[in-house]
Amino acid sequence: MPVHGLTHILLCLLPMWRILTPVSSHPQHNRCHLIQRTALCNNGKLTSVPAGLPDNTEELHLNYNHIQTLQDSSLSYPSLITLSLACNNLERLESNTFQDSKLLESLNLANNNLHIGYQETSHALKTLPRLRVLDFSENELNDEMAATLLQNLTSLEYLNLSGNLLRRLDETSFQDLHQLKELDLQRNLIFEIDAAFDSNPLLQRLNLAFNYLPCLVDFHMTQMVVLNASHNFIEWFIATQDLNDTFQLETLDLSDNKLLFFPFLPDQSRLRNLYLSHNSIRFYEHLADNNTDLNSTTTVEFYNIKKYKSNVTAELWTENLHGDISSLEILDLRGNQVEYFPQGFIQKMPVLSRLQMCTNCLKTLNLTSEQLSSSLYELDVSNNRLEQFVADEGTMTALGNLTYLNLSLNDLRQLPSGLFSSLPSLRSVDLSYNEIDICLPEQAENSIGNMSPCVDWKNIESLKQLYLKGCNLEIIPSCAFTGLSLTHLDLSDNPGLIVQESIESLSRTLQHLGLGNTQIQDFDFSPFQSLKSINISRNSLAHLPSSLLKLDLNVLDLRDNKLPTISSGHANALAQKLHTVFLTGNPFNCCQTEWFRTFEATKTINVVGQSDIECQDLFQIIHRVENSQSFLCLEEGGESIFWYILLFVPICLSFLFISIIVLLTFKPKMLQKSIKKKCLKRTSY
Ligand SMILES: *[C@@H]1O[C@H](CO)[C@@H](O)[C@H](O)[C@H]1NC(C)=O
Ligand SMILES: *[C@@H]1O[C@H](CO)[C@@H](O)[C@H](O)[C@H]1NC(C)=O
Ligand SMILES: *[C@@H]1O[C@H](CO)[C@@H](O)[C@H](O)[C@H]1NC(C)=O
Ligand SMILES: *[C@@H]1O[C@H](CO)[C@@H](O)[C@H](O)[C@H]1NC(C)=O
Ligand SMILES: *[C@@H]1O[C@H](CO)[C@@H](O)[C@H](O)[C@H]1NC(C)=O
Ligand SMILES: *[C@@H]1O[C@H](CO)[C@@H](O)[C@H](O)[C@H]1NC(C)=O
Ligand SMILES: *[C@@H]1O[C@H](CO)[C@@H](O)[C@H](O)[C@H]1NC(C)=O
Ligand SMILES: *[C@@H]1O[C@H](CO)[C@@H](O)[C@H](O)[C@H]1NC(C)=O
Ligand SMILES: *[C@@H]1O[C@H](CO)[C@@H](O)[C@H](O)[C@H]1NC(C)=O
Ligand SMILES: *[C@@H]1O[C@H](CO)[C@@H](O)[C@H](O)[C@H]1NC(C)=O
Ligand SMILES: *[C@@H]1O[C@H](CO)[C@@H](O)[C@H](O)[C@H]1NC(C)=O
Repeated sequence: MPVHGLTHILLCLLPMWRILTPVSSHPQHNRCHLIQRTALCNNGKLTSVPAGLPDNTEELHLNYNHIQTLQDSSLSYPSLITLSLACNNLERLESNTFQDSKLLESLNLANNNLHIGYQETSHALKTLPRLRVLDFSENELNDEMAATLLQNLTSLEYLNLSGNLLRRLDETSFQDLHQLKELDLQRNLIFEIDAAFDSNPLLQRLNLAFNYLPCLVDFHMTQMVVLNASHNFIEWFIATQDLNDTFQLETLDLSDNKLLFFPFLPDQSRLRNLYLSHNSIRFYEHLADNNTDLNSTTTVEFYNIKKYKSNVTAELWTENLHGDISSLEILDLRGNQVEYFPQGFIQKMPVLSRLQMCTNCLKTLNLTSEQLSSSLYELDVSNNRLEQFVADEGTMTALGNLTYLNLSLNDLRQLPSGLFSSLPSLRSVDLSYNEIDICLPEQAENSIGNMSPCVDWKNIESLKQLYLKGCNLEIIPSCAFTGLSLTHLDLSDNPGLIVQESIESLSRTLQHLGLGNTQIQDFDFSPFQSLKSINISRNSLAHLPSSLLKLDLNVLDLRDNKLPTISSGHANALAQKLHTVFLTGNPFNCCQTEWFRTFEATKTINVVGQSDIECQDLFQIIHRVENSQSFLCLEEGGESIFWYILLFVPICLSFLFISIIVLLTFKPKMLQKSIKKKCLKRTSY
């Protein structure tokens, strides 16, 4: 029994001893930090793998060191499962590097120079029967090097090859990776993919972003779940039609490409998120029945370098190839050229929750005929050319989940009356930059659905954020916002707007108030005790409204006003509370910049564009406030130099005067001489 007890103690001591002893025997080991079975040796200036770590180490992190070669048998840790060697200038792994670490599953070799010793490295990798995760990103690998390195890695499930020099992928590229599930190929030079993934039946996530692909046609990877091909030069996306299988595709990202057509999606799919922003997509239904225009072809053919491949036929001008969009939840079409939706297109998406159409060419939107889904949560049709926005009562009440509506930057002059009060979940509305008024009490229309040139905001309980910038508003009726509990109200860019009492009903809830470019003069902010952020830029204010100081503000925009200075009392009060302040574009006085030092000295405040804040000195010369050395002020107060000049000039003048008098009285001869001279000269003529 006592013997047993002793072995227990010994066993307990063993790990401790292991941790403690190597410190002296292997100096490099100093740089490691051990946490259970993980050794963290990052940033240690190591040139080789530290020896003497515990035998049972399972995770070893050696990122940001100077290891150039991983030498044979240098990894004497038989339990090692994870090894990370990112950012090391690593050139090669010698063939027998892993002979003692056969359990390795995850290997991170990102950001090294493995293009140099890739052949030897490939031998080393072949000795790892359990390798599942491999990161080769940023290693300047080309097609051939990658193919060599990946040979026989049949157990690999996750592979990162981003940031290399791959150009062309074909059936040899990943042929042994039968277990591959996720592949990251972003930021290469790939311009062609030819049957490259036929040996990877489990591949579910593929990232091809930031390459040079001109098209993705004959897409038939039914197992794919997330495909990211954003930031390429893709003009065509065509899925193989008439496949009997349902595509597992859930997320397709084709944003920032050159698509002219809505992608030709699979017949049957589970697609939920479709990102198509920043292409040139429009719909061509109006050309479909127009035989005169059909001189143009109805089919597209695709060729590739090796062999002629697909003759993809697409009935381009009819809209029956959109494929299955019935599961779509997010449709992002921002920054395209959509003029209208084809008939029935929106109806095909019964569970759509976000429709993002910002920056397109929509002229009219008839919610009644489009039949938007009742699950719609966000509708963004900002920055289009909308003149008509129509909805009848039934449609509006059906949009029970609509929470976010952005109609800004359009040409709307009227809206269905009662639109906003019919939407029970509405939280945020942006109507900025349209010519729409706020209804006067007598204008408030009764019949819901009729077009009205003004909007009635009363009693919309759910509404929290309202943006009415640049609507040419002149006066806000005093009861315009009664019954609202807005937290955000932006009335900027309505020059000459009369505001004060109409928003006092919001004093309890309002947190952000935008009054930029409204020509307000002295606004009393004191009732608005919940305000956190105020924008009063571009208002020609010559002094800070003192009611500002009583608030608990975080953000204050004071740009482009006429402030000459900020009194030190105000500066101190503001610096205590504010997190962010905007001050550029004011004619500050260089001799009164105490406030700037106060802000500068306060670590908790971010003065946006601090180095761009300018001031004028006495002679109207502009300086940067930051460079306080470059301008000279005689006294603290800026006016003082004026007094110096005012005092100095009379003294000089009187001194001059006195000296002339003295000169003349004590040397009258001189006077005579000078007179004589002049007279003589005159007589000489
Ligand atoms: C790699 O796989 C090929 C067959 O695909 C086989 O002939 C070769 O022996 C394998 N090499 C190693 C080192 O396992
Ligand atoms: C692949 O590596 C790059 C660069 O190291 C990294 O930014 C990216 O997130 C990695 N991809 C995945 C899927 O982890
Ligand atoms: C696609 O990849 C790009 C680049 O890595 C990334 O910014 C974007 O968020 C990805 N898209 C999706 C849907 O994840
Ligand atoms: C498609 O699947 C259905 C049933 O799932 C089957 O009856 C039909 O033969 C299949 N067609 C083809 C072309 O595979
Ligand atoms: C046919 O084309 C003409 C001119 O491009 C256009 O005005 C007309 O609306 C088109 N016809 C149909 C049915 O869309
Ligand atoms: C039809 O195509 C032919 C040959 O491409 C061309 O010469 C002709 O002008 C086209 N006609 C129209 C109406 O576009
Ligand atoms: C491609 O399809 C078109 C139309 O069906 C046909 O005229 C053409 O011969 C086909 N080309 C090839 C190479 O099969
Ligand atoms: C909107 O669509 C409905 C249903 O299709 C139609 O009855 C109504 O006339 C349309 N309104 C306008 C202004 O086009
Ligand atoms: C509305 O939103 C709620 C909560 O997000 C959700 O449970 C409900 O299913 C949605 N209604 C519709 C019709 O989609
Ligand atoms: C509405 O859309 C415009 C233009 O796309 C954008 O600048 C603005 O921030 C959006 N409004 C809200 C409240 O998100
Ligand atoms: C304040 O309002 C002006 C005018 O609308 C705008 O240009 C500026 O971006 C706003 N400031 C902030 C911090 O949002």
